[in-house]
Amino acid sequence: MTNDLDFDGLAFLVYRSSAVDRLTETDLDDILHAARDRNQALSVTGCLHFEDGLFFQWIEGPAQAVGEVFQLIDDDPRHSDLTVLGQGPLDARRFQNWRMRYSDREHGSLMDWFANSEVATVDRKDYAGGVVAFLTAIAV
Ligand SMILES: Cc1cc2nc3c(=O)[nH]c(=O)nc-3n(C[C@H](O)[C@H](O)[C@H](O)COP(=O)(O)O)c2cc1C
Repeated sequence: MTNDLDFDGLAFLVYRSSAVDRLTETDLDDILHAARDRNQALSVTGCLHFEDGLFFQWIEGPAQAVGEVFQLIDDDPRHSDLTVLGQGPLDARRFQNWRMRYSDREHGSLMDWFANSEVATVDRKDYAGGVVAFLTAIAV
């Protein structure tokens, strides 16, 4: 998958994907360990939310590093149907202190968030905005 992250400065990318059915707790641990090691090395931060078999991830950092990490993620066979919800330049990091924050529905439910919000899930732009608002809200 191509990306639009060929510029200097900070960038973000947010996507949704489907975990493979057989994904285990060990897989999740492995993903987070590898993610946190590489993200630290590349100055990438962000968050990963897992709910109802879906991953929602925000990655941020130097644009080329975000592109590099995204390429690895995109090639990872532990998930599929990856849809980029948004990407572009970023003024300031939102997950400054997180090499990769992890949450699942015990921390907060995106589905409940949508059910209780005015955001229309059918509008692609609003949907992406809703995902980002949710990820940011549960991180505090
Ligand atoms: C949902 C998901 C999120 C991931 N997030 C990251 C990430 O933020 N940073 C990263 O380096 N790898 C991430 N990975 C893992 C990469 O796809 C890849 O497996 C890993 O970078 C390989 O690391 P290694 O070469 O050290 O084994 C993620 C994988 C999945 C399935």
